[in-house]
Formats: sequence, structure tokens, C-alpha cells
Amino acid sequence: MANVAVIGAQWGDEGKGKVVDWLASRAGIVVRFQGGHNAGHTLVVGNQTYKLSLLPSGLVRGKLGIIGNGVVVDPEALLAEIARVEAQGLKVTPESLRIAENAPLILPLHAAIDRAREAARGDRKIGTTGRGIGPAYEDKVARRAIRLADLAEPETVAAKLDELLLHHNTLLAGLGAPVFEKQALFDQLMALAPRVLPFAEPVWERLDAARRAGTRILFEGAQAVMLDVDHGTYPFVTSSNTVAATAAAGAGVGPGTVGFVLGIAKAYATRVGSGPFPTELTDATGALLGERGAEFGVVTGRPRRCGWFDAALVRQAVKVSGIQGLALTKLDVLDGLAELKIGVGYRIDGELFRRLPAAPGAQARAVAEYEVMEGWSGSTRGARSWADLPAQAVKYVRRIEELTEAPVTLLSTSPERDDTIMVRDPFEG
Ligand code: GDP
Ligand code: IMO
Ligand code: MG
Repeated sequence: MANVAVIGAQWGDEGKGKVVDWLASRAGIVVRFQGGHNAGHTLVVGNQTYKLSLLPSGLVRGKLGIIGNGVVVDPEALLAEIARVEAQGLKVTPESLRIAENAPLILPLHAAIDRAREAARGDRKIGTTGRGIGPAYEDKVARRAIRLADLAEPETVAAKLDELLLHHNTLLAGLGAPVFEKQALFDQLMALAPRVLPFAEPVWERLDAARRAGTRILFEGAQAVMLDVDHGTYPFVTSSNTVAATAAAGAGVGPGTVGFVLGIAKAYATRVGSGPFPTELTDATGALLGERGAEFGVVTGRPRRCGWFDAALVRQAVKVSGIQGLALTKLDVLDGLAELKIGVGYRIDGELFRRLPAAPGAQARAVAEYEVMEGWSGSTRGARSWADLPAQAVKYVRRIEELTEAPVTLLSTSPERDDTIMVRDPFEG
């Protein structure tokens, strides 16, 4: 028996939420280990649609949710999200949700800095979610972050605010943005403290006990490998490591506990925000994929850019993050297309590459090389067994396996929880 880590294999929004919710029936605990409320994970269960940003998707299945130390936690956003899901009938209490006491907090000044910097970048903006994710991670690494446990020590919060404001107000003033006042921030944090501290604990102890008891742990990634701060299309990335190896450091367990690495990939490709996207379609086919796939950002509300499946990119994601199996989602969006293309590499200044090089200029100039396949006329929408798939759709899936060098472990054929085909149980390792 293995634990499972679910990570995005493209640029996010692959359907991680749906897959985690589906797999959660087989797990005891679901753990978020990086990112923050920049994530938007959609779960469709009957006539209910849950949009989760910070809460682990396993909560919807009634499983214990853990927010690990690798996550940056905005306490206001957390409480707002809890209120939102409670309005949908889901109870979130310290019995169902635990948060690492050493998780760094996102403060209002982080979002202000995020937005002011994006505005200053003009045409070169990253297209961040504006939620303060980058600045909060910067403060963590700079050793000035306020962490969840600090809220129990007013004197610690006051001293850290001095250092934070010295740094950030200087920057905000330079960018022409309003500065923050210490007392107001302090009062705000002290008011939040009694509401969020009941969730805090050393989650590593609970995870260690779970591991020894043989309780299955499901690690829920946010964002995706191509948004990883090291391995992605830097600088058009998020500010955390999104690869599966992060699950260990971001939860407080050993690397052996992470288990099977399941990469989630759409049967085509999308991206929100700026940055290179060699297989992007700016024509009617791209618009059709966007419309059929309902490609609008959960967090930003922006339409997602759409394009063909880029097998060279997913292969790279498979290699750098140790993906052992793929969950291929949204196959149904391709139903009825006469012809499909799969990106197999890039031509850059006349030279052929099977991987995306690291230099941003080369990435921007990369022109996708394609393999063309015939589409299928039947429907895959809602298919629940391999036998229900049109033969040509099976061929498409098999070709993706060959090109990405990863077996397809799960297939998803609609947003609905149970429209899922299991080829192999990832918990079996
Ligand atoms: P995440 O960020 O990786 O969790 O993905 P999002 O939830 O942001 O975006 C995926 C979207 O696709 C959501 O609206 C899901 O409901 C939807 N979805 C997931 N799997 C499928 C599928 O197999 N087919 C279709 N048509 N939609 C899907
Ligand atoms: P899920 O978990 C898609 C993108 C932003 C931007 C870049 C940096 O739903 O797949 P940030 O606010 O993180 O500093 O923004 O990363 N981004 C996502 N794109 N899905 C996500 O999460 C994303 N989280 C961040 O659009 O381009
Ligand atoms: Mg999303």
C-alpha cells in the first residue's frame, strides 16, 4: 500500500480537485503542501459545485484535511472560504481541519505589494492572481514572516511587524502605493488569532502517527510543474515548488512517505496568466476548446488560453517530478473534432528540441512541432469504463502514454465525481 501525491503536469487547472475528491474515498487524510489561495479546485458532486482554494479537497468526502507548513495561509481568506463551504452544508471545524503551526501567513500588505509590482511591470506582467503569494514566500525565505503559531505571542507579532513594515512600506512608497500602519495590522491579527489558532498544531506529529498506523495519506498539489519556481517557465511561474518532492518538506514527512506520484494532465492544454505556450491556439479551435471546456479561471475569472496537448512539455514534467502515472482529464472536450494535434517538440532558431530550454528568449521563440491524429466521432463524455471509449480515443490516449513516457492510470470524462475510469489503483503503488 502506498500514499499518493497528486500534482499538476501542465500549467494548472488540470482537474486536480476532481481527482483528489475521487481518490479521497480511498484515503484517510488529505494534505495540501504548497501554494495558497491562488489555487482554485472545482469539485462537482451531484448538484453541488465546490470551489476550493485553500481547503484540502478531501473535506468534501468527510476526510481529515491538513494544511501543511509549505502552504502560505491568508487567515482572512481561510475564514471566508470556511464560511462559503459551510453555507453549502459542509462543516469545517478543528476536528476536520488542522493547520501546521509553522505555516507562514499572508498579510494584506502582501496582496498590495503583489498588485503594485504587477502594475509596475506593465506589458511584462506575470499575470499573478494578485493574492500576495509571491511576496509571502519571499518573506518566509527572508526569515521575517509571521507564522500561525506567532499569533499566540502578541510581542512576537509586534516585533515582526516592525521588520515587515520597514521593508514593505519602503517598497510600497517607492511604487506610489499606500503604505500600511502597524497598529491597524496588529489589531487585525489579534482579532483573527482566536479564530484561527484552534486549527493550529504540529501536523508532522499527526502525519507520523498516521503513517505508523497505516492510514492512507493523499497529498494534494496546487498549480503545476510548468509553474514550479525552479522547473517551470520562469519567470512566468508561481513562487513555490510544485513538484511532488515538495510534499515531504511541505507537510513534514520523509520522502518515502509521499508514495505514488500521480500527475494530472488535460487531454489538451491551458494556461492562465502570461508566459510561453508553444501549442497555444489563437484561432477558432482554441475558442472552441475554451468554450467546451468551460475554461475560465476559478480565482481570476479570466478566460484561460487554450491549445493542443504538448507531449514534450508533459514528458519533461514527468521526468522532473517523478510522475509514475498520469490522470488524463477532459478527454470529452475533444469529442467530435475531426483532427487532433499533439506537440512533440519545438523548433527554436532552426534547431529541433524535445524539451523546452530554460532561457526565456528561447522559450518565447519556440515553435511547436506536431504529430497529427484523426479524431473520433463518438462520445467519451461520462464514460465510466475503458470499453465505452471510441477506438480512436483509445489510440489518442495510447499515443500520449508513448510520447510522455508515463502510463495513464486514471481517465476523467466529465466534471462529475464518478465519471472517472480507473486503469490502475494508484494506492496499490
Ligand atoms: P484544478 O485547479 O487542477 O483542480 O482544476 P480546476 O478545478 O481549476 O479546473 C478544472 C475544470 O474542469 C473544473 O471546472 C472541473 O469541474 C472540470 N473538469 C474536471 N475534469 C473534467 C473532465 O474530465 N471533463 C470536463 N468536461 N470537465 C472536467
Ligand atoms: P490550480 O491549483 C493555474 C498562475 C497565475 C500566474 C502565475 C503566478 O487551480 O491549478 P501567483 O498568484 O501564484 O503568483 O501567480 O501562476 N497560477 C495558476 N494558474 N492554476 C493555478 O492553480 C494557479 N495558481 C497560480 O495565473 O500566471
Ligand atoms: Mg484550478
